[in-house]
Amino acid sequence: MEQKEVLMRDTLAIKTARVFPQDTNSHGTLFGGRLMAYIDDIASISASKLCRSSLVTASIDSVDFIRPIRENDAVTLEAMVTWTGRTSMEVLVKVTRENLMNGAKEMAAISFLTFVALDENGKPKPVPKVVPLTEREKWLNATGEKRAQMRKERRVESEKLIHFLANETESVPDL
Ligand SMILES: CC(C)(COP(=O)(O)OP(=O)(O)OC[C@H]1O[C@@H](n2cnc3c(N)ncnc32)[C@H](O)[C@@H]1OP(=O)(O)O)[C@@H](O)C(=O)NCCC(=O)NCCS
Repeated sequence: MEQKEVLMRDTLAIKTARVFPQDTNSHGTLFGGRLMAYIDDIASISASKLCRSSLVTASIDSVDFIRPIRENDAVTLEAMVTWTGRTSMEVLVKVTRENLMNGAKEMAAISFLTFVALDENGKPKPVPKVVPLTEREKWLNATGEKRAQMRKERRVESEKLIHFLANETESVPDL
């Protein structure tokens, strides 16, 4: 029988990697694209722990690269489902850098991603509800509805822009 509810803490997924020279740019820091691939990967694992079905990334909110992650640092990503809609799941990913020489740890980036669960025909399917327990989890869950609304509005604007760019019309969209 499919679960109707899953504890937020049970969706936690963690990944740690050392930054090697091949992961870095000409400044000796982790490539933004490599970090984004790590973020998408760990977030999809967290979302899978909730829906236990196939899924797709529907969107990635802005990724704020707050601090550079340097060669030989350890980069740790923690992902958790923070909010659920009918068929979609919001996942928060926190990225931490650790200087392995002295143990100094700092938050380096954060991002919210949205995944959609799919049935065997590739159509969106309902997901279990995520259940927060701690005050921090409850805050993340309670603020999720507003973030989802902002994404809906952004999606409408993206669709207008796609239509405009695809049709090469002279009329400029009302963005
Ligand atoms: C995401 C996708 C499955 C949505 O399918 P759809 O037929 O448009 O379905 P709907 O409009 O009914 O949306 C389904 C859910 O996704 C959410 N959603 C759709 N697009 C979204 C977006 N850009 N950001 C956030 N949520 C989104 C909707 O709000 C809805 O959530 P809810 O059921 O919790 O209310 C479809 O757009 C898709 O396949 N996109 C490509 C995904 C992909 O290839 N990802 C890999 C990256 S290349």
